[in-house]
Amino acid sequence: MVSDAVRASDSGQTVRVCLGPRSYEVRVVTNDPGGFGPFARASLDRTWSGRPCRRALLVTDEHVASLAQPYMWALERVGIAASLAVVMPGEASKSLEHASDLYDRLVAMRADRHTAMVALGGGVVGDLAGFVAATYARGLPLLMIPTSLLAQVDSSVGGKVGVNHPRAKNMIGAFHQPLGVWIDTATLSSLPPRELRAGSAEVIKYGMSLDAPLFHFLEFQVQAVLALEPDAVRHVVAKSCELKAAIVGGDEREETGLRSVLNFGHTVGHAIEAVAGYGGTYLHGEAVAIGMVAVCRLAERVGTLDRAATERLLCLVRRAGLPVACPGLDADALLDAMTRDKKNQAGRIRFVLPHGIGKVEMSDACSIEQIREVLAAITND
Ligand SMILES: NC(=O)c1ccc[n+]([C@@H]2O[C@H](COP(=O)([O-])OP(=O)(O)OC[C@H]3O[C@@H](n4cnc5c(N)ncnc54)[C@H](O)[C@@H]3O)[C@@H](O)[C@H]2O)c1
Ligand SMILES: [Zn+2]
Repeated sequence: MVSDAVRASDSGQTVRVCLGPRSYEVRVVTNDPGGFGPFARASLDRTWSGRPCRRALLVTDEHVASLAQPYMWALERVGIAASLAVVMPGEASKSLEHASDLYDRLVAMRADRHTAMVALGGGVVGDLAGFVAATYARGLPLLMIPTSLLAQVDSSVGGKVGVNHPRAKNMIGAFHQPLGVWIDTATLSSLPPRELRAGSAEVIKYGMSLDAPLFHFLEFQVQAVLALEPDAVRHVVAKSCELKAAIVGGDEREETGLRSVLNFGHTVGHAIEAVAGYGGTYLHGEAVAIGMVAVCRLAERVGTLDRAATERLLCLVRRAGLPVACPGLDADALLDAMTRDKKNQAGRIRFVLPHGIGKVEMSDACSIEQIREVLAAITND
């Protein structure tokens, strides 16, 4: 079933992110890099700053750089000469130093507000290039070509861009919506399988927290998604973008609280990443998978979720090849990390609690004893 917000055509699907004058399209295709040219031109032409756009800086990382050429040609065919900037893969590239290198490139190009930034890569490239686009000359037009599943279903949509402070992840940033997001699911074929599985945790998150039909679809089709069957991948990517777009449309700058439902599974997930270290013991999506399991167990204790729903989530997470526990991690350290979460109010830990499949509510109803029990369960498994 395709809803109104998603338009299907032979060659792909389009999701509209509705933000008044900052509205834009997310186009989901398979194996069509040439289509990016007309899409980029149309997206840029919708704004004053993009209208005479003749140049672009395409930012990518070393793992993805081999995908860049067809996109540069596609831009050339619509009259946009693109220069290429390649950063090192990995979170370390999301720094002010790397942003500064990109500013140098833009200055050397004599870039102005009619020069587009194009981010081709995972969330790291998108956040870094997006941050540079938000800040250089008070804002350059930005186009996203996300190439990891996480970036396709999450980070490329919504306008959050930023870099890390050495002691605080994502602390330096801005809201800067792209003018368009071009998602080619064929790019996922070179993504390492572990990264693909980790990205699927965010898709499971959308299903469990917001959309029961998506959850049902995954129960039947998660293997097809992980095998990159085009129809299955396009469906879950477009559906995830549609769900995120609806939330972002109602809370663009994280001011009304609506956007916090996107943090389902993330309170425990972030604590796992912080305690295990950001060195790759657990990828973000893996930590979120465990976090979703934990918060379902918590919801069972509070009485908002039945055991059968938790079992269905567990089963899906396992079939996606994701972990459901983090044996050996220190439960007290996890609790300590969670008490520092910025969503907390009046000293109580706030969770996005499931109330059945496809429905969540923000809650601070969990007692410390209940939280301790659940953390003990996931660290002893
Ligand atoms: N802005 C937001 O709203 C938002 C939301 C969620 C996450 N993020 C950020 O996104 C980042 C994580 O994103 P990520 O998981 O994409 O990480 P990433 O960009 O580091 O990509 C993961 C790895 O996959 C490689 N890769 C990406 N696409 C590839 C492809 N098609 N073929 C081969 N290799 C490929 C990358 O080089 C990297 O080694 C974090 O920095 C996180 O803070 C931002
Ligand atoms: Zn996440």
